[in-house]
Amino acid sequence: MHILVTGGAGFIGSHTLIELYKAGHTAFVIDNLSNSNREALRRVAEIIGIPEIPFVQADIRDREALEKIFAQNSKIVNGQIVNNFDACIHFAGLKAVGESVEKPLEYYENNMNGTFVLLDVMRKHNCKNIIFSSSATVYGDPAIIPITEECPKGQCTNPYGQTKSMLEQVMTDLQKADPEWNVVLLRYFNPIGAHASGRIGENPNGIPNNLMPYITQVAVGKRERLGVFGNDYPTQDGTGVRDYIHVVDLAAAHVAALQAIERRAGLAIYNIGTGHGYSVLDVVNTFMRVNGVNIPYQIMPRRAGDIATCYCNPAKAERELGWKAQFGLDEMCRDAWNWQKNNPEGY
Ligand code: NAD
Ligand code: UD1
Repeated sequence: MHILVTGGAGFIGSHTLIELYKAGHTAFVIDNLSNSNREALRRVAEIIGIPEIPFVQADIRDREALEKIFAQNSKIVNGQIVNNFDACIHFAGLKAVGESVEKPLEYYENNMNGTFVLLDVMRKHNCKNIIFSSSATVYGDPAIIPITEECPKGQCTNPYGQTKSMLEQVMTDLQKADPEWNVVLLRYFNPIGAHASGRIGENPNGIPNNLMPYITQVAVGKRERLGVFGNDYPTQDGTGVRDYIHVVDLAAAHVAALQAIERRAGLAIYNIGTGHGYSVLDVVNTFMRVNGVNIPYQIMPRRAGDIATCYCNPAKAERELGWKAQFGLDEMCRDAWNWQKNNPEGY
């Protein structure tokens, strides 16, 4: 299939491009590079073994730019212009939770409006297949653990999470109104790790908000010590428990989701995690053991908006997509460190 990939230069997008090409698909990337680097796409092409990834630096809110991309990726069939994209994988969006609380308008504007323009241009060009990057955050403080897709959505505590929840609703309504659409909502749990080559990985701007990039920056000497946010949660060691998933497994889930599109799934929702919950201290201890480096840490107060425990039941994705995570926490820690130590300054 030929896939339009929005946000393809980012952390998850870049890894997904590799899995797409490995499975025989091709891609065209649109990214405004607001949180990524062109170098990532160069390295992706190098890993795949092609001269370059077709790419336009543009904002998905820019309707004209999107129209141009659809025009470029079209062919004439029986005298009619037909677009070449079989589906869109939609990663583009702003994702920093804390920043979204400070800049709600920017987050709502980018994530909501960007998706509205994208969906409208797709519809106009009769490309009605989309895989959307949603998040476990839509469950809020989950009513059921492990979380199944039937678990009711919860109250999101920040504008970032609200955009995910609202965009899920927008696409659900769109699919209901026009059943020609196939909408696959992938609810990612906590993606970490990097491609085994160590050539691409997570490259956050400034001080990392998320656990693994903070740990790797401590390991590489950029930060003194990790702050562990709370050790009084009702978990085995008191620290927060999450379902960490290797980004390469997550990337492969998108390839599997294309099958749901081929089967004309209508609306389909999948949890994408391993089904295992690991605490903050599990991650720190595993990182130290696997990589033989020390991670000094200090217990800090809880972080506002955090929940105690969040992990999923990924059985539906296995049953319906034939997808299951292959990598464990050891590989996640090994590959995250391999990326960071080979690229201490990122790209
Ligand atoms: P990322 O920031 O690395 O990638 C997102 C990409 O989108 C970036 O390259 C950025 O430049 C681009 N972008 C942002 N706004 C754009 C716009 N208006 N037009 C064009 N490009 C734009 O983030 P990621 O970790 O790769 O996440 C990808 C998607 O998955 C996001 O939608 C994110 O919210 C979602 N998600 C991520 C996680 C996670 O932990 N990383 C968890 C759940 C969901
Ligand atoms: C966060 C977001 C979530 C988003 C996800 C992926 C919040 C409340 N949630 O999830 O919406 O989808 O990232 O981008 O921000 N921790 C520390 N020290 C640190 C960093 C984190 O102890 O320096 C702990 C946290 O308290 C948590 C765990 O590590 O228990 C994981 O945190 P993080 O990586 O930020 O992910 P989430 O909070 O699960």
